[in-house]
Amino acid sequence: MHASVEAIYPTPTTTAPRRPAVTVKGLSKFFGGQPLYDRFDLEIPAGSFTSIFGPNGCGKSTLINMMAGLAPYDAGQILFDERDVRDVTIGYVFQNYREALFPWRRAFENIEYPLKIQGMNTTQRRERVHELVEQFDVRFDLNRYPYEFSGGQQQLISILRALAPHPEVVFLDEPFSALDYEMTLFIREKLQSVFVQSGVTMILVSHDLEDAVYLADRVLMLTRRPTRVAAVVPCELPYPRTDATLHHPQFIAAKRRSLEVFQREVRR
Ligand SMILES: Nc1ncnc2c1ncn2[C@@H]1O[C@H](COP(=O)(O)OP(=O)(O)O)[C@@H](O)[C@H]1O
Ligand SMILES: [Mg+2]
Repeated sequence: MHASVEAIYPTPTTTAPRRPAVTVKGLSKFFGGQPLYDRFDLEIPAGSFTSIFGPNGCGKSTLINMMAGLAPYDAGQILFDERDVRDVTIGYVFQNYREALFPWRRAFENIEYPLKIQGMNTTQRRERVHELVEQFDVRFDLNRYPYEFSGGQQQLISILRALAPHPEVVFLDEPFSALDYEMTLFIREKLQSVFVQSGVTMILVSHDLEDAVYLADRVLMLTRRPTRVAAVVPCELPYPRTDATLHHPQFIAAKRRSLEVFQREVRR
């Protein structure tokens, strides 16, 4: 299995991206005077795959938005190996792919957008898009506009755009929530391959415990607001994971443990 993954994804010619740890210290965030986070601490190890799981409205999206520099916070610090988010190349995949893509740009223009921002020239941009097309086995015409694609294809375009600049950290907010099962499995495997190949730090919000545990080496369980860390459930099965992983005792145990914590926190 490992060999075949390497065959599909040869060692990249570009230098491997850095893999920063993410440190959240004393983070506070209020909405309408009510605390969502109150002096919240969190450490995400470099090169880990962290899934975030918790009750509806507990602040999962807000947390990754604050980490990604998309939302302000009231107090505290978020550092990527001592660096501010502005000095880190990040990739972000929004939950709502329909609002995430630029409707007036063709698919390939959407994908190369972050590279354009970085000042990369047209030839280099096209090369990078081509690389991603090969890597993800994209079979549809990227000259078309977002509205011409299915939901799954749009989400794939959105993921390619996030990966285009070789991000050091990738944030994904429920990337499977609007996809059918087949597309979910396809994208899940591709994300795993990107992780295995590049070793970037990945942070995934998921409301599907199976997806969360399948991809992650640790599942971050959050409480109801004001939000704290309820538990960090390790899932140390080797990558790449396969269908067989789903029946592995360690996988089942990690899922059961996560569910216990979740139910305790929701019933509280
Ligand atoms: N811009 C906002 N203004 C006011 N309240 C907000 C805003 N964004 C989020 N919230 C509130 O913060 C809480 C957490 O939201 P969110 O991070 O979207 O939760 P999750 O992603 O875990 O479902 C919710 O109660 C939500 O209503
Ligand atoms: Mg959310």
